Amino acid sequence: MSYLHKFTVSAAVLYGLFAVFAPHARSRAANTEAKSVPTLDYPADYRKWVYLSSGIDMSYSATAPADHHMFDNVFVNPEAYDAFVKTGMWPDKTTLVLELRGSQEKGSINHRGSYQAEVMGVEVHARDDARLPGGWGFFEFNGAKTSQMLPQTAECYQCHAAHGAVNTTFVQFYPTLLPIATQKGTLSQGYKTE
Ligand code: HEC
Repeated sequence: MSYLHKFTVSAAVLYGLFAVFAPHARSRAANTEAKSVPTLDYPADYRKWVYLSSGIDMSYSATAPADHHMFDNVFVNPEAYDAFVKTGMWPDKTTLVLELRGSQEKGSINHRGSYQAEVMGVEVHARDDARLPGGWGFFEFNGAKTSQMLPQTAECYQCHAAHGAVNTTFVQFYPTLLPIATQKGTLSQGYKTE
């Protein structure tokens, strides 16, 4: 008998004893599982994915701009991009990445305008119907290998649901996708009335 099998047997025996002496342990374990927060691994390859757009200093409020400039770059996994081109909707297992970068004006031969500098943050908007409550979840990465889904009370969900043009995503700002969604008739009612 291999080592692996031996381990399996003894684990099963232990579990049997545990279940007899602690009858509530099982349901408590199931509850913990249901409530545990879904996690996502850092999408390390996102720079090889499909590029959707860049924004600079985008802001949703009319207040004065911040004193430093910021770029954001949006990427999506190629399988999801292909499905969007066919249907105008995001399929299950879509991962969208928003990479935030600082802006620089002085460097090398540049005399005017701005170019992108260091990464300031990576945010993810992912669809996973089996794992994420509501199908979609938001995640923030600040150098960590995995991240927990942000609670559904976070402001991300509200703004994206109210204003995102397709499936709570900001397709209105992704110039290769907006014509597709328009043609397929998948733009949200909220976006169309804005
Ligand atoms: C007030 C509105 C608003 C809020 C709040 C907001 N976002 Fe967004 N988000 C946007 C806009 C607008 C874009 C489009 C950016 C672009 O065009 O470059 C965007 C794009 C994104 C994208 C790219 C994929 C997509 O869904 O279009 C991600 C990822 C993202 N946001 C994550 C987050 C996270 C995480 C939070 C919360 C911590 C958040 N956002 C909060 C407005 C918002």
